[in-house]
Amino acid sequence: MTSSRPVTVVVTGAAGQIGYATVFRAAAGDLLGPGVPLRLHLLELPQARRAAEGTALELQDGAFPLLEGVDVFDDAAAAFEGASVGLLIGARPRSKGMERADLLEANAGIFSVQGRAANDGAADDFRAVVVGNPANTNAYIAASHAPDVPRERFTALTRLDHHRAVAQLAAATGARVADVDGVAIWGNHSATQYPDLTHATVGGRPAPEALAEKGLGADWVAETFIPRVAKRGAEIIEVRGGSSVASAAHAALCHVRDWVRGTPDGSWTSMAVPSDGSYGVPEGLVSSFPVTCRDGAATVVPGLELDGFSRARIERSVAELVEERTAVRELGLLGPRG
Ligand code: NAD
Ligand code: LMR
Repeated sequence: MTSSRPVTVVVTGAAGQIGYATVFRAAAGDLLGPGVPLRLHLLELPQARRAAEGTALELQDGAFPLLEGVDVFDDAAAAFEGASVGLLIGARPRSKGMERADLLEANAGIFSVQGRAANDGAADDFRAVVVGNPANTNAYIAASHAPDVPRERFTALTRLDHHRAVAQLAAATGARVADVDGVAIWGNHSATQYPDLTHATVGGRPAPEALAEKGLGADWVAETFIPRVAKRGAEIIEVRGGSSVASAAHAALCHVRDWVRGTPDGSWTSMAVPSDGSYGVPEGLVSSFPVTCRDGAATVVPGLELDGFSRARIERSVAELVEERTAVRELGLLGPRG
């Protein structure tokens, strides 16, 4: 994405915590890269519009050379007009006594409207990352309501899980984060996700070898590493007293930056993308995979060997995604693309 015309970026939930942590870095060039001017469309609920207007004032005060304008909206159709990038952060959190169906329904109310808005008014090259939970299924819902937008343009954020896995492996082996490669997140952005070290390397050596040197084997991976990464969101909520914010914003920025600018040669990242049927994941399901990005397209890394343990873990998380899809389908929440 190189352009002298500003790229319009719509940010939903812009006055929320992650929104606030994201927009200043986006304005500084961390989203689309240096030299790409942008225009921000901040979308909020009517009751939070004033706070978003305050954020817009602060963005102005940042005097960001790349930021060519900020507009605030409480109407999705207007906010998505002309947008090339969507950071879909705002979502309905689970409140006390809310059942899963209620949560899916409340979020479908948000993501169906935004999917339609993208379909009707966004730019031809529109692409979105859904951050708001349940992120994978929210992305699926939005895509179902946007039949004219290629399905693969609706993705969900598992880059935070990817970063968590990289950091945990680095800490366990005493390596630098920069020396870790080949980690993968599979499945849902939930506690069933599968953080996979099978193909990971540490300083160019297979991760199991580097772990063995520290006395850590398959048991450590299964009983410590995987739950640590998969339940890190809950750990942050418990320790910090609120869900992750800056790390989530950072991950969302990295997700879009790599998507539009490409992953480094010889390396992959993790993104939840509509499945192309690879690795037995039902087509269309928004599931996390190891991906490489080139020329604005994310491609699932082909041909990775998966052992029985990996296959079972992936199947478990994918089964949860299928359940979520069945639930929203039965509730009649999917759009024309189904
Ligand atoms: P927050 O409550 O601080 O902010 C959410 C904002 O969204 C609020 O300002 C709210 O007014 C707004 N909003 C709600 N519905 C909207 C709509 N229809 N249109 C526009 N704006 C709307 O929450 P947060 O801490 O910023 O987290 C946002 C979401 O991100 C949550 O769902 C959280 O669970 C999720 N999350 C995901 C990941 C991930 O890795 N995928 C990580 C952390 C948090
Ligand atoms: C996270 O992974 O930090 C969040 O998705 C947790 C949450 O429930 O908001």
